[in-house]
Parts: sequence; structure tokens; C-alpha cells
Amino acid sequence: SGAPIYMETSSAPTNIATIKYWGKADAKWNTPINDSVSVTLNQDDLKAVTTVAASTAFENDRLWLNGEEEEGAADNKRFRACVDGVRALATEKKDDDGKVLVTKEDWSKMKIHVSSYNTFPTAAGLASSAAGYAALVAALALLFGAKEEFPGQLTSIARQGSGSACRSLSGGFVAWRKGGKKEDWSDSLAEQVADENHWPEIRAVIMVVSDAKKDTSSTAGMSTSVETSLLLKHRADTVVSQRMEAIEKAFLAKDFETFGQLTMADSNQFHATCLDTYPPIFYMNDVSKSIIRIIHVYNKWAGKIQAAYTFDAGPNAVIFTLEEHAVEVGALMLHYYPEFGDKYVNNPDFEKKIKDFK
Ligand code: PMV
Repeated sequence: SGAPIYMETSSAPTNIATIKYWGKADAKWNTPINDSVSVTLNQDDLKAVTTVAASTAFENDRLWLNGEEEEGAADNKRFRACVDGVRALATEKKDDDGKVLVTKEDWSKMKIHVSSYNTFPTAAGLASSAAGYAALVAALALLFGAKEEFPGQLTSIARQGSGSACRSLSGGFVAWRKGGKKEDWSDSLAEQVADENHWPEIRAVIMVVSDAKKDTSSTAGMSTSVETSLLLKHRADTVVSQRMEAIEKAFLAKDFETFGQLTMADSNQFHATCLDTYPPIFYMNDVSKSIIRIIHVYNKWAGKIQAAYTFDAGPNAVIFTLEEHAVEVGALMLHYYPEFGDKYVNNPDFEKKIKDFK
């Protein structure tokens, strides 16, 4: 038919939590048992880019991921929560002369086509779902001209796609406040603690230890942990709130040592709760553990915390450091794991530094 197609594109980067989200308070609303906070990466090669189109000419809602159609994806409750959630905030679309082209009611009658690309391996355990749902919500918000009823409402919608996605809608250092004072959990949302210009010297060295798909999904893992781990309960009840306060303060003060210490301690406690889960969940492998050892030796050698590792629900390491040490940390990793260099590094400075280490 000749019905118009309205289309918008947006992108969102992935984020790496330094205080981890682990455990759902309410499965239906996808809300957490504890606050969390993350660094949004700003590299172009760790993004999801999503195009959304709406038209009465479309017969069904459809989704393509990296060019391949996902059959039945439009019925997925996470996808529906995002599309219907953002559409509920739609405003009318006008042309340059102020003539109404699409009313709010018109939007509700249209079917949606979504095409999303990751600029990094989907299965690499680098929070591809966070970037994906954040980009979806951002693109839908543009398409529908969505108007938030309160600050952070769009993040509370992204949260229903993937919890960590709520933290990818802004750059810098972003906290997810667990909420729970409101019955509909609309207060479980993300809030920017510091923007991307606050601490531009911060760097992330990413070690893709394995690009295999993780064997325990975060949803399944969290549910077993909530049911069986007393350590997780202790963590959520008493540890995290203190750490949140301390790490936000450290980030704002650009205090790398405190930031790094809390980041490593929290990653370790998250993986300890996985071991405390029954049956236990192992996300880190021997390479991950050796990276932990190397970083501690490096910090001891430096006489202060200069690098800090963190691991999500997979074996890949993200190592935070400052610009002045980034080449050194990269070189240190390449010294022990030269095979990472072939694929991911393209910097002549590394060559020299690697030699210095030998
Ligand atoms: O957003 P999800 O459901 O994929 O869970 C993310 C869980 C961790 O990555 C391990 C921690 C976090 O806060 O991102």
C-alpha cells in the first residue's frame, strides 16, 4: 500500500558494572535486589546500532539481529515491554509547518520493524543485551517522539528488556537505583552520576578470553543464586549500599585507587556468590584467574592500584586503568597473552613496551 513508513536510527554502547547487579527482586518487572553502577564504554566498536520503522503497511512486528530475522521475537515479553512501554509515551508528529502527520492514536495502530547490529561479537559476553535494549529504546523514543513523565522513565523501560540496559542510555558513570517504593517499580531506574567528560582519562582494556556463549544465562543464574546463596543475601542487605556510596564518591573525586579497589572487591564478591550458589556457577576460567593474579602483582610492583579488573557473567576481563598506564597495562597483558594482540591491538607503542617487559 502507499502508507508512509516512519524510520529512526539510534545507537548505544555497552556498559561494564563496577558494582554488580545480581539477583532479581521482581521477575515480572525485572528489578534488582541491589543497586549497581557501571562505566559506559564509548568506543565505536562496542555498540549496538538499531533502526526502527513504523507503518500501517506492515502486517506484523518483526525483528532482525545482525541481518537475520528472529522468528517470533515480537512476542517476546522483553521486546514487547520496550515497544509498548515507549509507545505509551508517544507524541504526535508534525511537519515543519505544524501540520499533524501522525497522531498518538495512529502510532498505536502501526506495526514495527526493528533491525539491530552489534559492532562486536554478540556472544562475546560483553553485555550485548545491555547495548541492544538501550539502542532499541533510544531508537523507539526518537521514532515516537516519546515524552518522559518523569526523569529516567525511558531507562525504567529499557530495564524491562535487560536489567543492565538501563545503565547504557547515558554515558559516563551510571547508577541503577533498585527502587521498590512504588508498586509498579517505576522508581527502579538509572541515574547518571558523572558524565563522560568528568573523568576522560579512564580507560578499559578488554580481554576477550572466550567468545563462546555463556553456559548459564544471567536470568537463570540469578534465580538459582537468590534461592540458594546466603552470601548473596548478605551482599544485597549490607555490602552493596556502602560500596555504592564509596565508589560514587571515588569516581566523582577521580580517586582511582579507591575506585579500583572497590571494583575488584565487588567483582570477586559477585563470583564468590556464584560459587556459593547451589549447584555452583563458574563464569571465570583459568585465564581469567591468571589475569587477576597478574593485575595484583602489577599493582604491588607499582606500589599502588593502577589497574583494576572486573568480570561479568563470563570469562572476559575488563581492566580499568588511567590513560597514562593504558599502554603499559595492554603491554603487560600481551606479554603473557600474545595471542590477544593479533586480533585486537593495532598500536606500535605496544611492541616497544612488550620488549621492555621481557
Ligand atoms: O542485564 P543482565 O540481565 O544481562 O545481567 C547483568 C549481570 C552482570 O553483567 C553480571 C552484572 C551487571 O550489573 O551488569
